[in-house]
Amino acid sequence: MDFIDLKTQYRRIREPMNARIQAVLEHGQYVLGGETVELERRLAEFVGAKHCIGASSGTDTLLIALMALDIGAGDEVITSPFTFIATGEMIALAGAKPVFVDIDARTYNIDPKLIERAITPRTKAIMPVSLYGQCADFDGINAIAKKHRLPVIEDAAQSFGAKYKNRMSCAVSEIGSTSFFPSKPLGCYGDGGALFTDDDALAKLMREIRVHGQDRRYHHPRLGINGRLDTLQAAILLAKMDIFPEEVASRSRIGARYTALIEEAFAKAPPEKRATTPTLAPECTSVYAQYTVEVPERPRVEERMKAHGIPTAVHYPVPLHLQPVFGELRQGAGSFPVSEAAAARVISLPMHPYLTEDQQVKVVSALKDAVCG
Ligand SMILES: Cc1ncc(COP(=O)(O)O)c(C=O)c1O
Repeated sequence: MDFIDLKTQYRRIREPMNARIQAVLEHGQYVLGGETVELERRLAEFVGAKHCIGASSGTDTLLIALMALDIGAGDEVITSPFTFIATGEMIALAGAKPVFVDIDARTYNIDPKLIERAITPRTKAIMPVSLYGQCADFDGINAIAKKHRLPVIEDAAQSFGAKYKNRMSCAVSEIGSTSFFPSKPLGCYGDGGALFTDDDALAKLMREIRVHGQDRRYHHPRLGINGRLDTLQAAILLAKMDIFPEEVASRSRIGARYTALIEEAFAKAPPEKRATTPTLAPECTSVYAQYTVEVPERPRVEERMKAHGIPTAVHYPVPLHLQPVFGELRQGAGSFPVSEAAAARVISLPMHPYLTEDQQVKVVSALKDAVCG
């Protein structure tokens, strides 16, 4: 069993995919070619945002967004410590200080109740992460941001295709930033990402920063990066967009089935021998970039799942404030207890839109044995 199966998807769309790739090889515009423009239009429409800017990765998109907001030395950006390194890393790389705020224990996303006390005169933005495929609480976050006149950048690397109150992830704040890393809900065959906004001025700035701060050929009013999207990756994403809405529906169905199967399997288990299923907030849908449960004695559970031939992963074992690279922030163990507790207990199960019911039953039966046996 694969943790993420990309081969079944390729077999399903082999012909249109190969045709899309072949077309790029024939026209030869390998960077920011016609397919990139076509993809940007298609994604903007899908998300319901005025602008989409394709870019080189979901890491570069975070940096481009921060640079467009002129965030740098002396500034602070509020974010979650329970995320992939790129979120805090790009805040620091822009020259600013990541200010961590603990998460909600049920959704694993930043807890809006804790944000206001972290705001200082140096705060320049809030960067919530929509972890595991479910949007953060954007009504709560946007209300605080509005009160303090702060822009909000959604790190939607894991939530592309999810909905928050019937709005799409990436269109729930000033800027949405996503990743097309191969294992993401919408993934290309290499690195890629995209930015979304309704703001014309920000869109123009982000387009310029994506190409070395250039406003016209060889004229550079500001610093930028090489953050362009390859045409081949755009072509690959266009082929995948034809089936993406259907895959989003499958992900949602498979996630719900996991929850039902796990709850049934552990219904009679004592509390200390239980796997806890993820909570889907009523205003949200999830694309389950990861299907992640909490278990007691995780190292033992990991070993036993491996013995059953079931691949698992941990997203993420060390919260950002405890990463050596952020040691100078001097926020030791105990600073963000909810994130630390989650980091010690979470384990992700195989998840992709082609997972069969039989495979899910097998995974859950192995999980039951691994936790209770
Ligand atoms: C929450 C989060 N932010 C940012 C990124 C970075 O995206 P990429 O790998 O495309 O640079 C990822 C991808 O792993 C992620 O999960």
